[in-house]
Amino acid sequence: MTASPLNLRPGTGFPDTPLFKGFGAPNRIEADVYELESYGQIPADLNGRYYRAAYDWAFPPMFNDEIPVNGDGMASMFHFQNGHVDFKTRFVRTEKFQLERAARRALFGRYRNVFTADPTVRGRIRSTANTHVVWHGGKLLMLKEDGLPWEIDPVTLETVGTWDFYGAMTSKTCTAHPSFDPDTGEMYLFGYEAKGEATRDIAYYVIDASGHVSHEAWFEAPYAGMMHDFRVSGSLAIFPLSPIVADLDRLKEGADHWRWDDSLPSYVGILPRKGTGDQIQWIETERYSGGHMANSFDEDGVTVVDLCQAKKGVFPFFYPDVQGNMFEPDDLNGRVTRWHIDQSGPQATVKMEQLNDAVCEFPQIDARYEMRPHRHAYFLLMNAGQAGPGMLEVPGDLPVPGGASALAMVPIVNGIGHFDYETREFSVHVLPPGDVAQEVEFVPANPDAPEGVGYLLALVNRTSERHSDLLVFDAQDVSSGPLGGYKLPVRLSTIHGTWVPEHQLAIATRSGAGSQGGN
Ligand SMILES: [Fe+2]
Repeated sequence: MTASPLNLRPGTGFPDTPLFKGFGAPNRIEADVYELESYGQIPADLNGRYYRAAYDWAFPPMFNDEIPVNGDGMASMFHFQNGHVDFKTRFVRTEKFQLERAARRALFGRYRNVFTADPTVRGRIRSTANTHVVWHGGKLLMLKEDGLPWEIDPVTLETVGTWDFYGAMTSKTCTAHPSFDPDTGEMYLFGYEAKGEATRDIAYYVIDASGHVSHEAWFEAPYAGMMHDFRVSGSLAIFPLSPIVADLDRLKEGADHWRWDDSLPSYVGILPRKGTGDQIQWIETERYSGGHMANSFDEDGVTVVDLCQAKKGVFPFFYPDVQGNMFEPDDLNGRVTRWHIDQSGPQATVKMEQLNDAVCEFPQIDARYEMRPHRHAYFLLMNAGQAGPGMLEVPGDLPVPGGASALAMVPIVNGIGHFDYETREFSVHVLPPGDVAQEVEFVPANPDAPEGVGYLLALVNRTSERHSDLLVFDAQDVSSGPLGGYKLPVRLSTIHGTWVPEHQLAIATRSGAGSQGGN
């Protein structure tokens, strides 16, 4: 044997774990597909852009027990033109993305743990802008709750830069779930851990229709807990706080940002819609864990909040709890719940009312009805058409933080449902076996259509065929199944999205907004 003349080094690749295999394997592709293949009946008069935010992975992670939401932000766009749809995706060129691309490897460590980052990137912006995409003030913003928004171009999806609302947002973080007032054009935002890791500070902002901060309030939460969503009614901003808690010592040990703490209570925070920080009230409630929220409005002297909530946890990638216990499967199941916030007595109270037994998440409404009474909402259902709980215990070494268990709980998201808040009943379309639904979007048939009259757009993963479809439903007849759809030649797993009518985009593009700014 003679010594090899070849100069070799070890290859690099993604961990051999379920997160990075199968349908959820990294795409790492920036796509342009002109004229998507379509089938069935498709909308002939729909003109606009359907944007989705996703995570993908530019590089293999630094830690094998990675969780999905730490992936790099990927923006996608379905451009509807009279039934024709063109498709585009682009990575968000965040600071993290650019630094890692220059290094040709991951540098930023675990999800929201700066202490696990490569020393060369300490103090740099780590947010991946992967959770939600919203259109406001002539800007398209990619959002993730651990940092400020990133602006992208609404036509090319090219990254413009991080966005702090003309220098006025001093919070270090900004929610991925703003609230919008369709009458005033205002956007309502907040940031938690607003002064840094595991801080209790919350910053609250009202952004006027032109994109400038018109109101700001700062206050503290009872503890540093995850606040993934919030809603605003005509009178109140409502902040759900349940004990998925951050701990600075745990972060310094290199462990997870979040763990459930069974020793702490749950709260609902209420602030007058244009209130000051000293007006915050934290109402201790029965134990709950807040999932995504559908809407909030004032009616008969009471503020109503519609959401999905579970007993504990909601987000199954953050466990076991700080006491070392695993959740029971039903602890994680979200159900349609209505809060009634009553301020008529000496102490404000919150009554929590479960409206239906179905296990569900990702509520959406007709966005024209935000902050006012609504009747219709659209959900994803777990294990639809089957017996048993929504969260199934399945064997396998899923990438659980801490490598805690050989058992993991995963939802089988196989139902697309319309929920009628008057009858409190679902009508559901159950997907074919193996298909998985993503959050849906309601699009009015026209700007003057009554509530709920329009299309439901639904991304679905055809797992056995390894591609995704964008299905189109009649929103008034979901249970009859899709009218038709568009076939993607790629896999696309996304989190949240936004429909922008073409006339709104045209106004912004003509005025030059949406393609300038950044800081
Ligand atoms: Fe979300």
